[in-house]
Amino acid sequence: MRSALNNPFSPGADTIPQVWAGRTEQLGDWRDVVRPRRLAGLPERGRTILGEPGLGKSALVRRIADEAKRAGDWVTPQLRIPSGADPLKLVADAVLKLADSAGLASSREHRIGEAIKRVRGVAVSGVSLTLRGNDGPDPYMALTDLLIEVGRAAIAKRHVMALIHIDEVQNITDDKALSQLLISLGDALSHEVEVPVPGGEFVSRSLPIAVYLTGLPDFEDMTGARKGATFARRFKTTTLTAIDEEDLAEALQEFVLDGWEVADDSGGVSRIRMEPDAASLVVDVCRGEPFLFQLAGEQAWYAGTGDTVTVDEVRRGWRTAQREAAAHVERILERLPSRERQFLNVMAELAPADRTLTRIAQELRLAKATDAGPTAQRLDTVRGIIGRGKPYTFRHRAVEAYVSSEWPNV
Ligand SMILES: Nc1ncnc2c1ncn2[C@@H]1O[C@H](COP(=O)(O)OP(=O)(O)O)[C@@H](O)[C@H]1O
Ligand SMILES: [Mg+2]
Repeated sequence: MRSALNNPFSPGADTIPQVWAGRTEQLGDWRDVVRPRRLAGLPERGRTILGEPGLGKSALVRRIADEAKRAGDWVTPQLRIPSGADPLKLVADAVLKLADSAGLASSREHRIGEAIKRVRGVAVSGVSLTLRGNDGPDPYMALTDLLIEVGRAAIAKRHVMALIHIDEVQNITDDKALSQLLISLGDALSHEVEVPVPGGEFVSRSLPIAVYLTGLPDFEDMTGARKGATFARRFKTTTLTAIDEEDLAEALQEFVLDGWEVADDSGGVSRIRMEPDAASLVVDVCRGEPFLFQLAGEQAWYAGTGDTVTVDEVRRGWRTAQREAAAHVERILERLPSRERQFLNVMAELAPADRTLTRIAQELRLAKATDAGPTAQRLDTVRGIIGRGKPYTFRHRAVEAYVSSEWPNV
């Protein structure tokens, strides 16, 4: 029987969702590119994964980190930066723990002992270490040095990576702290060490370290201009967009075909199925939003107790979720500067075939089409909300549905 205890959907929970959909490209990038290349000593940039709230940035990297951990890698917990906090303290603390995993704490090497001591200082004082005008090197250097030691230890272990995940990076509002953090991580990523190869020769290699930064698209602006060039050389940025309908359908296929295994009341297991039309309706109402996918699934689960989730239950469940679904999209829209919001409203009012820059600019009463260009570009490349094909389209399908139809009312 279905109950709150065996419901597999998890809207908003800070866990890896049991009902997982898509993101195969990003998971493949970790499995087939980042990890093997860094393990092999080849250079590979850090990864920055940005996107509007609820698109699954944190869940994605949490899943990557979980896989890494299962493979025996040394992994930091997801380091979530509170608004305005000093990121160096948090990261220093996490790197100390990595050093522990690497067994460095018991090292007798003076160099390592010193590095640990300096990073302990950073964990206490953060970026303010610099502001006090100490004679010592900047705190970021201490962090880099210890990361390098962790990397060396990982090389010695063979087939072990160190993975650092920093979440909500847009909350790093202190410019100095941000640039120190990025330099430190970037330096460790691009650092090369000499290692012996058979025949007595030495070759240089990169360290088996990977860095994932996740956060809102606003982070893109913070790394702009001055920091931009170096940052882009060291980190590769991906902007997440809605999950494809096929991927969402595939995630529910297990319910449709065999049924989802749950514990029943008598200590055994039973299977909860979903009518094919019920699964299609879940896919339809959530508009590619992972958060809304979980919400729709959860509410459908609660809308009945039988062994099969029906279309009617999905519909009734969604009705109870509608307000939250609307609030979710409103939160996304409210964060946008008014220019961008107006652009979206005007675009939504036009028939899909008429959504060209020229027409949108006209509706916005701008003198020239190019005046709307920068706004369009931001909505596309930075936020992933629209696509600038011919004609323009919405890539954020929940935003589209909200501004151009009765959705979430179905
Ligand atoms: N690939 C996915 N498949 C299914 N559900 C997902 C997926 N990614 C995220 N979710 C769900 O979507 C919600 C939002 O995910 P989260 O990672 O917190 O988003 P973000 O960090 O981008 O704001 C969570 O409830 C999570 O369980
Ligand atoms: Mg998040």
